[in-house]
Amino acid sequence: MRAALQEHLAQASHVPPNDLLEHQMVYGDRAKLHVHPTAVLNNALFNLSSGEITIEEYAFFGHSVSVLTGTHDISKRDRERQVTVPKSGRDVVIGRGAWVSSNALVLGPCRIGEHSVVAAASVVTADVPPYTIVAGIPAKPVRTLARPDQEAETFGQEQPPAEPAGAP
Ligand SMILES: CC(C)(COP(=O)(O)OP(=O)(O)OC[C@H]1O[C@@H](n2cnc3c(N)ncnc32)[C@H](O)[C@@H]1OP(=O)(O)O)[C@@H](O)C(=O)NCCC(=O)NCCS
Repeated sequence: MRAALQEHLAQASHVPPNDLLEHQMVYGDRAKLHVHPTAVLNNALFNLSSGEITIEEYAFFGHSVSVLTGTHDISKRDRERQVTVPKSGRDVVIGRGAWVSSNALVLGPCRIGEHSVVAAASVVTADVPPYTIVAGIPAKPVRTLARPDQEAETFGQEQPPAEPAGAP
């Protein structure tokens, strides 16, 4: 009975299979996309019109992340604006172990430092230091993460005073 119900629900479902969530969309020359085999990209969109994109080891993305190097010359108009696209100069590097979470947008040129985190739906418009959480539009540092040999530090918040000596 349970198996029959599951089969019925599977057939009746209008939800498409999830395999598309693991396929990347690439606009431009694929030779400009450099992905370490340990990186996880899900259904990212890469625009390679105006630079190279490098994803280092163990970096990983949530769903629907976009990484864009392309731009247009906004001093131009009409057809000229559509086609005036620099071929280089707007590279993106996503450093080792960085987590770019769902729906984030990364605009080149920039480097996301190793082991950093880009919060959901944030727009990265500048370099992100290593071991740093950035969030918002544009993405700004909200916290640092502990390096293997350091304590974490909080941006914009006062640290609580140290406990007096002898406190219980
Ligand atoms: C980045 C993230 C991991 C940080 O989580 P956290 O360590 O619990 O951090 P907090 O929730 O304490 O947030 C720290 C600050 O950043 C802000 N912030 C967190 N995420 C934010 C976002 N996506 N956009 C804007 N601001 C955000 C918080 O409001 C908070 O600000 P405050 O200090 O002024 O109150 C989490 O916010 C996030 O974006 N997770 C992604 C989830 C996701 O995409 N999952 C899919 C699986 S890959």
